[in-house]
Amino acid sequence: MKVIACYNIKGGVGKTAAAVNLAYLSAREGFRTLVWDLDPQGAASFYFRVSAYVPAGAEGLMRGSSLRASIKGTDHENLDLLPADFSYRNLDLLLGQAIKPQRCLSALLKPLEGEYDYIFLDCPPGITLLSENIFRATDVLLVPTIPTTLSLRALDQLLKFCRREGLNDFSILPFFTMVDVRRALHRRIVEELPKQIPAMLTNFIPYAADVEQMGLRRSAVGAFASQGRSARAYEDTWWEIKMRLEWIEEDGLRATYAEGERMA
Ligand SMILES: Nc1ncnc2c1ncn2[C@@H]1O[C@H](COP(=O)(O)OP(=O)(O)O)[C@@H](O)[C@H]1O
Ligand SMILES: [Mg+2]
Repeated sequence: MKVIACYNIKGGVGKTAAAVNLAYLSAREGFRTLVWDLDPQGAASFYFRVSAYVPAGAEGLMRGSSLRASIKGTDHENLDLLPADFSYRNLDLLLGQAIKPQRCLSALLKPLEGEYDYIFLDCPPGITLLSENIFRATDVLLVPTIPTTLSLRALDQLLKFCRREGLNDFSILPFFTMVDVRRALHRRIVEELPKQIPAMLTNFIPYAADVEQMGLRRSAVGAFASQGRSARAYEDTWWEIKMRLEWIEEDGLRATYAEGERMA
């Protein structure tokens, strides 16, 4: 079981789009896949046509006993969803009261080992106690990054935070999203940043109407525009993530990836 968190300090950067589209591809390939929609806004639940409601609420889930019962199937084979719930807005408070406040999420996921091949965490924005739980539960931190100045600043803040806190037990894999190659700034950043952050994925997601259409279609792009360039971009990105996971497994590159990043 590998945990893949779609995470960024910033909102509106394509975290949910990545979680939904990559999880869809994972399930389509036959991997047993779970998406945990951790954002009280419930966008991933909405895309998968599951109501953003957990009867036990955040408090019940934290006790662990109701976690499995809260998992729903989706319209797609091999793809399950642990929905969002509005009570997730209190997650930080609840985590703060736990005996090991930073390790609750990994303890909750542990019993699912063996039941899923990939668990995708669709994370809310921010750098909170929940984020620290995510850092300690995940194998990979996928960081969708729009090639703009403020997005790069958020990525820099994240890398510095992880370095300062000695968080190097997972791989940080940033990748570009909403890339508009007609814009000089986007082109320049897409070319330059990977030289400073070698862990950056080489594939990127273009700015595309297909992805915006997900809200109307309530589905992954691969399900309604499988030949489009965004569906292909997610396929290439998913392939690259699996490659990276293999390298990390084989060569123990995990720590190397979390270190050594330097930004201007
Ligand atoms: N590659 C893309 N091209 C165009 N629009 C996108 C793309 N990725 C995401 N969007 C749109 O941008 C908004 C934010 O994306 P979302 O995945 O919800 O971000 P986050 O989860 O980081 O807040 C949504 O309206 C979504 O449809
Ligand atoms: Mg989101």
